[in-house]
This record gives sequence, C-alpha cells and structure tokens, in this order.
Amino acid sequence: MTEDIKKGLLGIVVDETEVSKVMPEINSLTYRGYAAQDLCAKCKFEEVAYLILNGELPDSKQLKNFEKIERKERKLSKSLLDSIKNFPKKSHPMDVARTAVSIMGLEDKETKDNSPKANMRKVMRIFAKTPTALAAFYRLRKGKKIISPKSNLSFSENFFYMCFGKVPNKEIVKAFDVSLILYAEHSFNVSTFTARTITSSLSDIHGAITGAIASLKGPLHGGANEEVMHMMNKIKKPENALKWINNALDKKAVVMGFGHRVYKSGDSRVPTMREYFAKVAKVKKDRKFEKIYDIVEKVMIDRKNIYPNVDYPTGPTYHLMGFDTDFFTPIFVISRITGWSAHILEQHAANKLIRPLASYKGSSYRKVVPLNQR
Ligand code: CMC
Repeated sequence: MTEDIKKGLLGIVVDETEVSKVMPEINSLTYRGYAAQDLCAKCKFEEVAYLILNGELPDSKQLKNFEKIERKERKLSKSLLDSIKNFPKKSHPMDVARTAVSIMGLEDKETKDNSPKANMRKVMRIFAKTPTALAAFYRLRKGKKIISPKSNLSFSENFFYMCFGKVPNKEIVKAFDVSLILYAEHSFNVSTFTARTITSSLSDIHGAITGAIASLKGPLHGGANEEVMHMMNKIKKPENALKWINNALDKKAVVMGFGHRVYKSGDSRVPTMREYFAKVAKVKKDRKFEKIYDIVEKVMIDRKNIYPNVDYPTGPTYHLMGFDTDFFTPIFVISRITGWSAHILEQHAANKLIRPLASYKGSSYRKVVPLNQR
C-alpha cells in the first residue's frame, strides 16, 4: 500500500501555537493577535520583541526593564571576540552568526538549564549579543577597528553604530526597525520548525537557534533577500528590467523574492516594507532600484500571477542603507531570534518529540555478503 506522502509537509498541521498567525479575515500576519503593519506604525522593534517573547505588549516600565537587560547583555566575552577575529575573512556572515551563537552556548553557564526562567535569560543574551558579533565581523573583514556597543542607543541605532561608526537619520533607522518588526516571526516556517524540532529532543536553546540560522541561510528561505539584490545588480538599470525578467521566465527560472508557501495572492508585509523602501530611496536620492522593482513585479504578476514576498523590498532597502549584500540575511537573523525563541519556549512548555515517518522505497530484505565474497 502506498502511504499518503505530504512532501514538504505541505498543508500538514503539526502543532498549536499562540505566537503568530496569518489571519485571513484581515489578510494579515499577526503577532499575538496584532497586525504586523499596525505594530510597525505604532511600536519600535524592542516593544515587538517583548510582545513576541512575553505574549503582551509592554507598559513603559516593562519596556524600560527589557531594554535595560538587552543593553547590558550586548558585550561579547573576550574569548568570543578573539574567536571572531580568527574566523576566515571570507566566511559568509550567516556562518559567522551560526558559529557565534554556538560559541555562546559553550560559554553560557546556564546552557543545560531548560527551565523557563533560565531559557528567557539565555534568549536575552543571544538576542543582545548576536548583533554585536555580526557587526564585529562586518568591521574586521574590512580591516576596520571593532566598535563596542553603546548602551544609550536603541537596538537598531546600535547596530548601525557598531557597523558604520555612526547612526543614520531617523527615517533610515525607522525603516530598519520596520524591517526587523516584519522579519520577527512567521509561524512554522522552515527555520522555526527546525528550532522546534531540535528543541523537541529537549536539547538546548543555543543548539536550536544555531540550527535555525543554518536553515534560514538557504535561498528558498531567508537567503532570498540577498538573491534579490544579486538579481537587481545583474539587471543593472531600469531599461534592462523588462527584457531580463521576460528572459528569466522564458527559461523557467525561479525569481527570488517572489512566491510564498502561505500567501498565494500577496505577502501582507510587502506593502509596508515597499513604503519604507520608497522612503529610504528618497532620502538616498536613488530611485533606480525602485524602478527595477516595479517592472519586475508587474511582469511576475501579469505572466505568472506570483506576488512578491517580504524579501523583495528588504533586499534593495538594506543595499541603499549601505549594508553589504551578504549581511541582509544576518539582519533577518537578529530579528527572527525573537520568533524562534518564543517557539522554543512554547515547545518546551508542551513538548512532544517530533518524529515523522517515511515511506520506505529502498532495497527489499537481503543478507550481508562478507567482504571477501563481494
Ligand atoms: N519564480 C518563478 N516561479 C515560481 C516562483 C518564483 N519565485 N515561486 C513559485 N513559482 C512557481 C513554481 O515554479 C511552481 O510552478 P509549477 O507548478 O509550474 O511547477 C508554482 O509556482 C508553485 O511553486 P512551489 O515552489 O511549488 O510553491 P512552494 O509553496 O513550494 O514554494 C517558495 C514557495 C517560497 C519556495 C517559492 O515560491 C520560491 O522558490 N520562491 C523564491 C524564493 C523566495 O523568494 N523565498 C522567500 C520566501 S518568503 C520569506 C522567507 O521565508 O524567508
């Protein structure tokens, strides 16, 4: 009898979650019941991080305390910094993020303690330190001096400061904050499912996040924002865009930054990010990528009825902000640590070992022939 195989777990509901949902009635991604675009309009990233991790939006006192802990935990140990200094300069920053979190697990005194309180303390350390580790590598590979985190700066301001030595104007910081809010959480996507799967064996949080980063790196998931930029760089100028995209579709290419397993008629995060992409382009007085963006999008919808996902506008936005292309997915990481962590905590709270079955199609039973008779 052939079993009913659901490749890619397509359409399979494997567990319950309270963290997020794409709500069809409002056609939007929601975190703990709040629409992501509403959070973008009214909150800063730290408030949303608190919401995702704790289930409710913080009041002023709770936010202050949350920020105090995050800011206090930003510094890296000397041994982690020394390790980063020794990483090959050509390493992909996603591998740097993965390895840095893994090293944090070696150093953390509470690695083995999976109690909710210890896990939350570890989450705050990983959340605060990962941007510092990435920014250190960003500087080192350019032969520049590492910049220590500053505790009077917000999460987003501090990341710019550690990478570039200065904080850009408010509009750029807000656009970055919005991108972090939009990237923070998306239910049972492949990296989150990876984190939950690792957690389900009662393994530790550093391991689960290390695995999630590895999963996010792939171009079918987080790596798409980098691929979008490579595509835009190949297209070079708006005049080339129409021919380029039509050629790509004629050749049946997969166009990065388009399509989604959950959204089939448009990713609800895109309009918000598109708006902030335009704001950044205006500040930077560079509309070239917006023009390419619009042409490629129109052809994808007209010819394939496939809509952009959030990686499509974030790619060129991060480029205009001045980040190297291979840092786009690591930026996704520093935000998604919140969503992964909320799921890891949820998995621990109601754990069941994740262990699916496979339909076997290998050799039928046979006896081992000893080496000298083969
Ligand atoms: N370009 C061209 N054709 C596409 C695309 C695309 N981006 N996406 C889907 N299709 C076609 C696909 O070829 C298939 O056609 P056919 O039925 O003729 O074989 C049909 O649409 C259905 O696609 P699918 O791959 O079966 O759909 P899926 O739900 O398994 O895949 C996806 C979703 C995201 C993997 C896919 O759309 C894709 O590869 N997109 C490009 C990579 C990307 O942008 N990833 C970011 C995802 S969202 C943010 C994140 O999670 O990081």
